[in-house]
Amino acid sequence: MTPTSPVSASFRLSNRLQQVGFSDIVQIRNKVMDLRAQGKSVFQFEGGEPYLPTPQHIKDAMTRALAENKTRYAPSSGIMELRMAIARKVNERNRIPAAVEDVLVVNGGMQGLFAGFQSVLDPGDEVLMFSPFWTPIKDLIAFCEAKPVFVSTGEARANGIAKTLAKHLTSRTRALYYNSPQNPSGVVFDRTEAETVAKFAIEHDLIVIADEAYEDLVYDDEHVSIASLPGMSERTITSFTLSKSYSMTGWRVGYVVAKEPWMTGLRKATLYSTNGVSTPSQWAGLAAIETPVGVFDEIRAGYKQRRDLLINGLNSLGLHCEHPKGAFYAFPDVTSIDQDSRKAGAKLLEIAQVATVPGVVFGDAGEGHLRFSFSTGLDVIEAGIDSMRRKL
Ligand SMILES: Cc1ncc(COP(=O)(O)O)c(C=O)c1O
Repeated sequence: MTPTSPVSASFRLSNRLQQVGFSDIVQIRNKVMDLRAQGKSVFQFEGGEPYLPTPQHIKDAMTRALAENKTRYAPSSGIMELRMAIARKVNERNRIPAAVEDVLVVNGGMQGLFAGFQSVLDPGDEVLMFSPFWTPIKDLIAFCEAKPVFVSTGEARANGIAKTLAKHLTSRTRALYYNSPQNPSGVVFDRTEAETVAKFAIEHDLIVIADEAYEDLVYDDEHVSIASLPGMSERTITSFTLSKSYSMTGWRVGYVVAKEPWMTGLRKATLYSTNGVSTPSQWAGLAAIETPVGVFDEIRAGYKQRRDLLINGLNSLGLHCEHPKGAFYAFPDVTSIDQDSRKAGAKLLEIAQVATVPGVVFGDAGEGHLRFSFSTGLDVIEAGIDSMRRKL
């Protein structure tokens, strides 16, 4: 028998996965690690994580779960105690009418979104999405062999959301991805805007995939869950995560809220990928969900202080930036450094040791900008701004 040649025509990735990309952000992170390994100090603004540690009562709940041997398979949709607590939370805080059957526990927002797109899209379907956008979304859509259709948030806000969305509508449009607060721009759609998008979705019979990863980090406005609006809970799959609200990025716990037929799809996608979420992490997740909401006032105040320090600093350097209303990112115009955001980012890293993410990574509408996270120490923000002031 001849051994299989490594250049055999069979040695190729499935067509479906060839269309799926890897994150540029990982490449930037590697570059920062290289610089640090060379002994250089880098002011890191490229991240996407809360600066606070996971609260102690959540860690204690994990320890307790382990001590009590809560380590066996859980139902793949999640432990009942957690699903019930989530159903209460979304009814009370998000105003989404949801029963416990409408709740699924998943491995972070990423799995919820993955399962959501898998449940709705067929090959060739189109998804309207505001741009700039969180990069993995286009890959989650590509995973379904479907097509993202980008709608500039700036253009939509300037010219009318419904009118701008309508320009991109085709007979293949099946869904709309709706992220508020937005990563990377920090845009928060207000109630009127959410109502406009909801009306558009109903009129054109679109399914909405709502991404509310930053629901608790809204500074000057209210957070509106689009599924809470009349006629929307049936046609919306809402993805939530504990990652940002409770500083639990590494725990990989999130949840999705949806009705049928979506819930069947979500459950299948979860069952045949991870068969649920680590059982002790779910008990920790229960402690997180039961945290009194008052804690968010203090958390938001900490982020707001960082936001104002960074935004004022960037504006004082001539890098124009509006105060983002939500999430923890600033997205200034950096065309005065370079029109090409990759070159602007490389220059900033090289000359001022300030690490950011080029705006173009978040879609063409992000070109000319850099994403700075203000989820870091006040001292880092001060030092980074100072370095840019001295060296640029
Ligand atoms: C807009 C948005 N949605 C979803 C997520 C997913 O978060 P996770 O998978 O950590 O829960 C992120 C993480 O950065 C995000 O920025």
